[in-house]
Amino acid sequence: SEALAALIAKRVLDVSDFPQAGVVFKDLSPLFADGSAFRTVIDGIVDHYGRDGFDVVAGIEARGFVIAAAVAYAVGVGVVPVRKAGKLPRQVVSASYELEYGQAVLEVHADAFVAGQRVLVVDDVLATGGTAEATLGLVERAGGDVIGFTVLLELAFLEGRKRLAGRPVHALLAV
Ligand code: PRP
Ligand code: HPA
Repeated sequence: SEALAALIAKRVLDVSDFPQAGVVFKDLSPLFADGSAFRTVIDGIVDHYGRDGFDVVAGIEARGFVIAAAVAYAVGVGVVPVRKAGKLPRQVVSASYELEYGQAVLEVHADAFVAGQRVLVVDDVLATGGTAEATLGLVERAGGDVIGFTVLLELAFLEGRKRLAGRPVHALLAV
């Protein structure tokens, strides 16, 4: 909604040349630090999908974890971590990908999902979509069915949603 978008817009800081020259980094830490705004945003995500819209939430390290855990708790479902390489202790599926400012590897436990489980993927920012695209592939290789993506902020000019195989992207604020 307009109200949620405005709530987020007021609590984003633009940081030039972080983490590298030429990138204007959108820092959402003021939103996370504001208890009332954070709760309103989480409730807005839950309302968008309803309480039976997904079976589990996948959160992308690191800032996606914060949102994913809150959404999962609010609905009473579980949360699955999608992690940077080398952090998960058991058998993983793994994918390397490029993001707005670098290259990395993401992993999820190979047995993280029950076949056909409806998975909501959550992150703070959708930029180039490299991270989200890699996560889509990982979740599906691990047996989950990605029903959509939620992000607090979409950098729409980078057209990341085009890389997500037509899956619905719910962005609370797009710039
Ligand atoms: C940021 C952000 C998204 C991703 C978006 O995470 O939280 O996960 O980049 O970029 P993309 O759409 O171009 O792929 P980052 O890798 O910086 O990790 P962090 O949350 O651990 O700091
Ligand atoms: N802010 C936070 N995370 C990001 C950004 C950004 O501007 N770009 C890619 N990931």
